[in-house]
Amino acid sequence: MNVALSSPVLVGRDDLLALASRRLAAAAEGGGELLFLAGEAGIGKTRLLGEVVRRARELGFTVVTAAASPGDAEIAAGLLGDLAGELGREPGTAGVGSRIAARLAAGGGDDGDSDRQRRLLVGDVSDLLESLGADRTLIALEDLHWADDVTLDVLGRLGRRAGTLKLLVVGTYRSDELYPRVPMRAWRTRLLTQRQAEEARLGRLSRADTAALSAAITGSALPGTVAEEVYARSDGIPLHVEEFVAAVGGMPDTLADAVLSRAEQLSREARSLAGVASVLGRSFDLDLLTAITGEGPAAVDDGLRELTERFFVQPRPDRVRYDFRHALIRDALYADLTPHRRRYLHARAAAAAVAAGFSPVFVSDQFERAAMPAGNWIGVVDLSVPRRALKALTIRACRVRAVV
Ligand SMILES: Nc1ncnc2c1ncn2[C@@H]1O[C@H](COP(=O)(O)OP(=O)(O)O)[C@@H](O)[C@H]1O
Ligand SMILES: [Mg+2]
Repeated sequence: MNVALSSPVLVGRDDLLALASRRLAAAAEGGGELLFLAGEAGIGKTRLLGEVVRRARELGFTVVTAAASPGDAEIAAGLLGDLAGELGREPGTAGVGSRIAARLAAGGGDDGDSDRQRRLLVGDVSDLLESLGADRTLIALEDLHWADDVTLDVLGRLGRRAGTLKLLVVGTYRSDELYPRVPMRAWRTRLLTQRQAEEARLGRLSRADTAALSAAITGSALPGTVAEEVYARSDGIPLHVEEFVAAVGGMPDTLADAVLSRAEQLSREARSLAGVASVLGRSFDLDLLTAITGEGPAAVDDGLRELTERFFVQPRPDRVRYDFRHALIRDALYADLTPHRRRYLHARAAAAAVAAGFSPVFVSDQFERAAMPAGNWIGVVDLSVPRRALKALTIRACRVRAVV
């Protein structure tokens, strides 16, 4: 069975949409702000943000989006670098994007630098971003629980200034990821208590909304007992509703079981590819994946097509990077790898990433997960990467570094 997993309609978020629309309307008139969308994984932050983005475009806003990833907290201004790259794609904002990129390249945010240098960097970058607020602009940032300190400082400053600008900054974060040492925890509390930001919380769906979501996914109302069971198992978390509704062969106990029951329906090749991709993280690079599998490009293309059709992954517009449909889907597939297979795949990923010049943070993370000290891998890993795959990879890794 290959049901469409997502609901075509947004269920049960009318109040939050109304709030976001009011904030967009105010920003359009020069009274912007910093708005947080907070909630647990799978609750619908990304989906809601997508709707806010759509409405902003209707109102003539320029929209720029970027997302933090695991490990970003250790890269000073990492998310701002991505944001600069995104600004660079639009003719209207390319100038600001390249000035931010140049300012970041000039430095000042690294740990060894003085506080003063860092303050100057934060000031300069936020001034540049503020200049976008002369015209209607929405900056949408995902997964701030992984953001670094410099990025958060810049956003905090924007929050203080946005009130007189045509600038709405919307940031999402996972409320279940705000551990004591995550940089944004204290930052969030400070901004909220000083009223420099507003937080909108996404709660779990009610029983009726869960039934409406299930019906919207399958195209017809579920029988009462099934609907009741989906509600009981999913706790009204939309991602869980999707996976439980699509689960095959009886109602699974957990989200991971539901994901794995769907994965069992895949061809052997696609199932294996999903496991390999999961070691690279929520997002992965096509050529890096190809290099690790050792399979030819055609086999990897076939596998990714199947994984896309079955809603495990989705390609980015450039079709060079892919994302798992949700981080929790990746987590379920990753947890299902045997310990030795996982370490072996991480070792191959580390070796291929070194050869292609991927960022040191990514490489050392892969080494760590392979349980191998960095620098000790030569001769241990039989890489056997096809030369052509490695060449494409190296070229792109250089390009990525050149942009940041
Ligand atoms: N209100 C909603 N109505 C319909 N589908 C939803 C809703 N909220 C979330 N979803 C779906 O649930 C899944 C998880 O939502 P997502 O926005 O990715 O969660 P989060 O970003 O909070 O982790 C997505 O497939 C999304 O389309
Ligand atoms: Mg999300």
